[in-house]
Amino acid sequence: MAKVYVFDHPLIQHKLTYIREKGTGTKEFRELVDEVATLMAFEITRDMPLEEIEIETPVSKTTSKVLSGKKLGIIPILRAGIGMVDGILKLIPAAKVGHIGLYRDPKTLKPVEYYVKLPSDVEERDFIVVDPMLATGGSAIEAIHSLKNRGAKHIKFMCLIAAPEGVEAVKEAHPDVDIYIAALDEKLNEKGYIVPGLGDAGDRLFGTK
Ligand code: URA
Repeated sequence: MAKVYVFDHPLIQHKLTYIREKGTGTKEFRELVDEVATLMAFEITRDMPLEEIEIETPVSKTTSKVLSGKKLGIIPILRAGIGMVDGILKLIPAAKVGHIGLYRDPKTLKPVEYYVKLPSDVEERDFIVVDPMLATGGSAIEAIHSLKNRGAKHIKFMCLIAAPEGVEAVKEAHPDVDIYIAALDEKLNEKGYIVPGLGDAGDRLFGTK
């Protein structure tokens, strides 16, 4: 069964408060999302495999640990997911970045894929799918399906704020995908917004309305 990790690090929680605050302007909002993405990347990479190599310090020969070359892919769900990419790349600069775009069909209300561009070696990579908000879970579930259909085997999902409904939906659809969040909020409202949430993440990141 999928595990859900809530990153309650004080720095993450502090920055998240100002991300939520409605008076926070676009520039600061973007910077804070970027910083929280970096801090979350630090936590989410805890299980990265290491190997010993031989090195020489100015004092003696020794063996020391380096990352064992695991290939990573970051997949932002368009468009708000883009706001988390640079923050993750600060810690994992060699990661490849794919994109998945989805829109909601006005009749069925189901997410429909309109854009997918992934690294060519999907089967060899571990993926982190990112979207600031996990609301109903529809987009996350579809994006993860899309990655799996193209051969991805190891996928994590990372977001800033999740609604309980979305967490349950992703866990049920993808029990093999662990979920990493900065805050688990109360509920979804009738318009599909997370309460208390932060509003529309895409609009706040890109200054649109
Ligand atoms: N997407 C958002 O940007 N905000 C929400 O509250 C829910 C979905």
